[in-house]
Amino acid sequence: MSNSTNQLVVVVGAGPAGIYGVRKLAEAGHEVIILNRDIKPGGLVEYGIYFNKHKLKEGVRKQFRQILADPRIHYVGHAKVGQQADLTLDELRDWLKPSAVVIASGAQGTKALGIPGDDAVGVYHAKDLVYHFNGLPEFTKRDFQMGDRVAIIGVGNVMVDIAHWLVHEKKVKEVIAVARRGPAQRAYTDVEIQAVAANMDLTAFDAELERVRPRLEAVGEDLVTIRKDLTKHCGTKAKEGESPSKMNFRFLNSPTEVVVENGKVKALRVEDTELVKRGESLSAKGLGTFFDIECDSVVFAIGDRVDETLGIPCSGTEYVRNPNPDAENPGDEAYQVFDPATGKVCDGLFVIGWSRQASDGVVGKAKQDGERGMAVVNRYLTKAETGTADGWEKRLANFRKTLAERGVRTIDYADVQKLESVEREKSEELSVEFFKYQTDEDMLAAIDR
Ligand SMILES: Cc1cc2nc3c(=O)[nH]c(=O)nc-3n(C[C@H](O)[C@H](O)[C@H](O)COP(=O)(O)OP(=O)(O)OC[C@H]3O[C@@H](n4cnc5c(N)ncnc54)[C@H](O)[C@@H]3O)c2cc1C
Ligand SMILES: NC(=O)c1ccc[n+]([C@@H]2O[C@H](COP(=O)([O-])OP(=O)(O)OC[C@H]3O[C@@H](n4cnc5c(N)ncnc54)[C@H](OP(=O)(O)O)[C@@H]3O)[C@@H](O)[C@H]2O)c1
Repeated sequence: MSNSTNQLVVVVGAGPAGIYGVRKLAEAGHEVIILNRDIKPGGLVEYGIYFNKHKLKEGVRKQFRQILADPRIHYVGHAKVGQQADLTLDELRDWLKPSAVVIASGAQGTKALGIPGDDAVGVYHAKDLVYHFNGLPEFTKRDFQMGDRVAIIGVGNVMVDIAHWLVHEKKVKEVIAVARRGPAQRAYTDVEIQAVAANMDLTAFDAELERVRPRLEAVGEDLVTIRKDLTKHCGTKAKEGESPSKMNFRFLNSPTEVVVENGKVKALRVEDTELVKRGESLSAKGLGTFFDIECDSVVFAIGDRVDETLGIPCSGTEYVRNPNPDAENPGDEAYQVFDPATGKVCDGLFVIGWSRQASDGVVGKAKQDGERGMAVVNRYLTKAETGTADGWEKRLANFRKTLAERGVRTIDYADVQKLESVEREKSEELSVEFFKYQTDEDMLAAIDR
């Protein structure tokens, strides 16, 4: 173990960015407290990655376990930071007195299009559904009423996960993925689409390609190649084909309204678009003609934004970062939080992972971003004149006590280990690959058993 630097760092959020990141802080010799909203660490690895990807999830969990067992890393679960949460950022700084705070809380806000009808019953944000079917407490008991025909806005991998659930668990009649651009601009990957490829209605797909043919050919796209590419996983190679659900697509359609009648979703109104060159990429431009896609539920799968209630300046979907190049270490500015009101960098406050760039990339990218961000923090700490780690144990004990007085039951890493061992026992007892408690009460009872 490297020598202690006598610095204390607090990281908010124990998803991949935070967990892979704290390893770099501990390796540099700092004491690290990692706070997490959920009882369990892991973030979207636990509550985002599709629930049947056991091998992938368990592989990443194993690495997390190794990191979180480091004696310099101190886990505090079940404590949410924010303006209307268990504690504010100011209280965190005041009570724990760290040299630096790193925000790694992901992208917990939702991005909305702000179209009429988007708050109707039967209209959902993908993240809420994802949290629901992956067992994040607060969302597990919510009633998400899905109809027979579900329109999903967006054609990224999150759309595929939602379609996967609708096709194989809910077995709805039809899922319609709605793209504002064309098939060649889809954001989902070949590996992921296999989950629903067997359910693609090829006759409807060919008709859809014919419908948009003139607008695709106008920008030089080759429909033969596109068809081959998009249908290569249909037929014999496709997985999980037992559901009767149909998986369909609408291209070059930008949503303008959720049509609601008598309190119920009736259709998704879309404007036809064409593709226009903007720099290197192709953008969607509205044509002023409209069409109603009949459906009884709508899901927005268009990416997320950061949580605006955390107490950090926001702009667009992200926290504000230093717009000026760091004079000593160019590039470091991308991880430094900036306050536009004062025109200054917020001293000792950093962002990493999806908190830095919302909905950007897979676990490997969050890991890389967490590690890069912590290198910036380590450089910042080499310049610190005084250490802040002296007495951290007492401050942490008082911190837990103050939260307990507020009715917040915090979790330490030994609690997580206990919970995991009870869940392992339970999965053996039930002969299932993985067992997971779905409510905070059940998790706490398992810890207290
Ligand atoms: C539906 C879905 C499926 C995905 N599937 C895959 C996949 O199969 N493979 C893959 O490689 N990648 C997948 N990804 C991408 C991957 O999950 C992300 O790249 C990664 O999780 C981002 O890491 P993060 O640490 O920045 O954020 P998150 O994983 O979101 O972690 C944030 C953490 O912060 C905590 N937190 C939030 N707010 C607060 C607060 N106010 N106070 C304290 N703690 C807080 C949360 O509890 C959470 O633990 C998927 C993403 C989604 C949305
Ligand atoms: N299995 C996996 O590996 C997995 C699973 C889930 C998520 N992830 C990762 O997590 C990240 C986030 O995924 P994501 O699917 O949320 O985001 P994404 O890949 O960025 O896809 C978002 C989709 O929403 C559309 N969209 C955005 N704004 C829109 C608007 N205003 N109107 C209409 N459509 C709009 C986008 O279309 P445009 O392209 O036209 O903007 C795009 O099709 C990605 O990096 C993804 O790979 C990975």
